[in-house]
Amino acid sequence: MFEEGIRRKALYGDDNVYDFSLGNPIIEPPSEFKLILSQLANDTGSGRHAYMPNAGYAETRQAVADYLTRHNQRRFSSSDIVMTVGAGGALNVILKTILDPNDEVIIPSPYFVEYNFYLENHQGVPMIVGTRSDFSLDLNAIDEAFTEKTKAVLINSPNNPTGKVYSEEELRELGRLLNEQSQRFGRPVYLISDEPYRKIVYDGIEVPSIFNIYKESFVATSFSKDLSLPGERIGYAAVNPDILEKDLIVDGMVLSNRILGYVNAPALMQRAIIGLLDVSVEVSLYQKKRDMLCAGLTSLGYQYVKPQGAFYLFPKSPIEDDVEFVSALKEENVLTVPGSGFGCPGHFRIAYCVPDSVIERSMTGFGKAIKRYV
Ligand SMILES: Cc1ncc(COP(=O)(O)O)c(C=O)c1O
Repeated sequence: MFEEGIRRKALYGDDNVYDFSLGNPIIEPPSEFKLILSQLANDTGSGRHAYMPNAGYAETRQAVADYLTRHNQRRFSSSDIVMTVGAGGALNVILKTILDPNDEVIIPSPYFVEYNFYLENHQGVPMIVGTRSDFSLDLNAIDEAFTEKTKAVLINSPNNPTGKVYSEEELRELGRLLNEQSQRFGRPVYLISDEPYRKIVYDGIEVPSIFNIYKESFVATSFSKDLSLPGERIGYAAVNPDILEKDLIVDGMVLSNRILGYVNAPALMQRAIIGLLDVSVEVSLYQKKRDMLCAGLTSLGYQYVKPQGAFYLFPKSPIEDDVEFVSALKEENVLTVPGSGFGCPGHFRIAYCVPDSVIERSMTGFGKAIKRYV
């Protein structure tokens, strides 16, 4: 779709193509980032661009640990943190560490498309389970999906593509299930929480901490979305300070970081984010975009669950065949992604991290496409 966007823009002009296909943040990084970057550029100390311990700079890991201690009911130390090449790097580091060939990972759908590939990288097997009609966790379906090969459950909240934020109550229930299954198998079943959108939430909602809920847990995250730095490839993996066999697990993660080919997270960005942990882009700008899009689509007759976070909307396709509907939108130069790609046919994803004017001007196309079918 992204390539199609480029082709169509060349044909019809930039202003006449409404590209909602990619989660590439539109808002520029905060001014604090640019200030810190210029200070770091003038830092004449030696060894600033050299190799470092594979887990990352000690001071960056300590700063992240202090941040997590402030935001969770757990005390983190630098040894609980591995700096990674984005959230994607963090997920791969975690998966390589915990998975043996043919181990299963339970993933609620819809899910981030790359998860299947990440699992394949480490010979893991995705066990996809549906969610409820409001995209909350279907805990019965998760419970039924456990087998003796289950190594982990992988969740993503705020969710791409639905914008759903899982409630404290459903996460506690998930934690209870995981404890039960861990006891049944006599070994931990891990919870991995993919959280690059944690700070992008609306209407005062808070994302509950899985660290407070379940001991055998990991968080994978990045600064790609909340600081608008996806091209800079900076993130981290954090382990629950109370996880069993922590030293062995963290050693495995550090080795994975090295041998997956990343070696370490980018040096300059590790130094930059030390002073940016409490900073984020202006989230209200995304909330405004969500509200504009929701109001416009409601008036045209689209149905959707209102997103609580991230910058995606996942409406129902007005016809069963989401691929056909996405093609109909494409004919109006409105580019979206079919829900089947996220393991959830009958829907489509709109990434609304685009200028307000694109949302406004796209409404004619959204209107024409739905009128063809209803
Ligand atoms: C749910 C989810 N997880 C992970 C990633 C990867 O993030 P990063 O670019 O920080 O590797 C993305 C990126 O879009 C995402 O949406």
